[in-house]
Amino acid sequence: MPEPTDVLREHSYDGIQEYDNPLPGWWNWLFAVTVVFSVFYLIYYHGGMPDRGIHTNYQQAVADNLRLQFAELGELEPTRENILQYMNEPEWLLVGQIVYKANCISCHGAEGEGKIGPNLTDEYYKNVRVVEEIAQVIANGAAGGAMPAWKNRLHRNEVVLTASYIATMRGKDLSGRAPEGRIIPPWDVDPAEGDSTPAEEAESAPKSEASGEGETPGDSSASSDEAGAESEPGDSDAPAEPPGNEDAPSSS
Ligand code: HEC
Repeated sequence: MPEPTDVLREHSYDGIQEYDNPLPGWWNWLFAVTVVFSVFYLIYYHGGMPDRGIHTNYQQAVADNLRLQFAELGELEPTRENILQYMNEPEWLLVGQIVYKANCISCHGAEGEGKIGPNLTDEYYKNVRVVEEIAQVIANGAAGGAMPAWKNRLHRNEVVLTASYIATMRGKDLSGRAPEGRIIPPWDVDPAEGDSTPAEEAESAPKSEASGEGETPGDSSASSDEAGAESEPGDSDAPAEPPGNEDAPSSS
């Protein structure tokens, strides 16, 4: 007869009794090992060292994947056509969204509702009159760096795809920062017509389609033609030759 290992404990709950079996040794050891392991785990992943952990690895993988995909796109130009086109391609728009989440929410809010930076979901814009100027603002910044320039930190294609993503935010009208700037025409209105309108009222009908394409987003030099009209052109008393000059050389 093997000696009995199961010892019945004394207490009884509603007539139910239990044995007092110790945990197996291997189990106890496993537990001890996990406790020791957790210390090293904690130090390694949560000790404040950057670039560790699956989140970073994941982002790395996404970035690598992006680079592969960009090979497929080629080098996108920040043109109106491209920006409008990618507004309708959800899988590429996702790239813009990732860029936005990673770099822009600190100032523009998680959904574009605005914080330090303007609300991007309303109809009002400060530095943008046509859709391609979104890409210009992203690339070059605005307001003397209050809006940082991203052209050295983002891939060209990322600038274009982020511009597309920003363009899709318009019209969501999320409550956040109050409107700033002025109402601009819809993205699909041909900019050639409304391009040279004065900065204050972009929605007013285009008066003069003369002056060439305005390159800088916020230029307010629209009043220059009036100024030009006022100053009289050429007073016509241009300096004639000094009278005495003809004689002088001959006399010597
Ligand atoms: C440090 C804060 C900050 C960050 C980060 C930032 N912005 Fe801005 N952004 C601003 C400010 C401030 C303005 C308004 C500039 C002005 O007053 O003219 C602005 C303006 C803009 C505008 C023009 C809005 C308008 O009404 O004319 C766009 C578009 C924009 N930002 C997009 C982005 C994108 C995309 C990113 C991320 C890649 C980004 N911003 C990151 C602060 C920021």
